[in-house]
Amino acid sequence: MAKAQTTFVCQSCGASYNKWSGRCDACGEWNTIQEEKPLSTGPAKKSLGAMKGRAVPLSDLSSKEPPPPRDASGMEEFDRVLGGGLVPASAVLVGGDPGIGKSTLLLQAAASFARAGLKVIYISGEEASAQVRLRAQRLGLADAPVKLATETNLRDILTTLEEHKPDLAIVDSIQTMWADNVDSAPGSVSQVRAAAHELTTFAKSRGSAVMMVGHVTKDGQIAGPRVVEHMVDTVLYFEGERGHQFRILRSVKNRFGPADEIGVFEMTGGGLAEVPNPSALFLQDRGQPAPGSAVFAGIEGTRPVLVEFQALVAPSPHSQPRRSVVGWDGGRLAMILAVLESRCGIPFAGLDVYLNVAGGMRVNEPAADLAVAAALLSAREDAALPPETVVFGEISLSGALRPVSQTENRLKEARKLGFSTAILPSGGKAAGTGGMALSQMGELTSFVGDVFGAG
Ligand code: TYD
Ligand code: MG
Repeated sequence: MAKAQTTFVCQSCGASYNKWSGRCDACGEWNTIQEEKPLSTGPAKKSLGAMKGRAVPLSDLSSKEPPPPRDASGMEEFDRVLGGGLVPASAVLVGGDPGIGKSTLLLQAAASFARAGLKVIYISGEEASAQVRLRAQRLGLADAPVKLATETNLRDILTTLEEHKPDLAIVDSIQTMWADNVDSAPGSVSQVRAAAHELTTFAKSRGSAVMMVGHVTKDGQIAGPRVVEHMVDTVLYFEGERGHQFRILRSVKNRFGPADEIGVFEMTGGGLAEVPNPSALFLQDRGQPAPGSAVFAGIEGTRPVLVEFQALVAPSPHSQPRRSVVGWDGGRLAMILAVLESRCGIPFAGLDVYLNVAGGMRVNEPAADLAVAAALLSAREDAALPPETVVFGEISLSGALRPVSQTENRLKEARKLGFSTAILPSGGKAAGTGGMALSQMGELTSFVGDVFGAG
């Protein structure tokens, strides 16, 4: 067998190659392939099956496990996203764009956990201790019993953690960590993978929870490959628009709780403030009903959240009209425009279309289809929707409206925020209407006819 060779690994997606090339075939990125040495260069080992191992104990599926214990930080938005608090010995990855507020969030969380009685160590590989201390003072956290260190050498960090045995160790960030047994530069895929692996193993074997910060690449992945996401128990993304003050912490994977749960924060001069009622916040700047605006009653994780879709439709000066979307899927917008055009006879050819979710929120639910269609139609017809109305429902390619889950929760939240009418698909379970007047429809054409008297 040939001796172990160096491999070439794409720093964006983690694909590996035998030789260097300018462009990664797997993800299409240019100049991301770098040479990396393999972890071990020893002789090829015998096949595992030929050597006797240890038989592992087996158990039944019916064996009773108590639910994992949880440590609450007292930051309710943070605890909820974790699934009700931090699970001891779990590994958590917090991803987000640079500058979005990850270090601020985790410093605040560290202080809250420490004040709740946990032994917390915060290790920064990016900022000097003085810088972190200064921030803690500015946020009024200086008195919290958090232990601080600045270090990037993983071996030293693990030894330190071993010695102090914290309940929670925070590592900011995984890209700055450097494992001296791996022969490539900090921030490379091999290093990130090795660091995440070592820290996760430490969490499992020593019973300390570990939270790691990960920066995301420009296509929205946690830098380095998805492998880090597979290793850890929980992956949280911290999202938001830089220019906006709202920040959303979203769980995209959670072995100990529901995924897709969100926590909403507001970035203020004094750090991140929790927003217990996000619907009110997302709708606060809404004035009188205006053309192009539709309020969507959505569900994020276990919680109903009302957001406003805003659309603008204008004659296009270009031969290829613009389709611009913020906070919603561009492909889904194209689909809804196509359904409006071919099923309802409402053309958008020659018109620029802009769609935006107010407040910097990102909506992923197909249940928002009808709200998007409503905003688009309202903008195109230059007619506002009826006042105090929320809209939700999925649209199929045939133009039929499909009922969506948790109708009652959506209606209840809308009622709570002062809405009196809901437009939704027929056939959904809506036993408790929460005191709302319901306008249920089976087809998109009836919506167009009823609400805009067109189509
Ligand atoms: P930071 O937590 O350093 O971001 P990350 O770790 O994700 O790179 O936060 C950076 C931004 O947050 C910075 O531009 C300033 C802003 N900020 C506030 O607005 N208020 C505050 O109290 C703090 C600490 C930061
Ligand atoms: Mg940071």
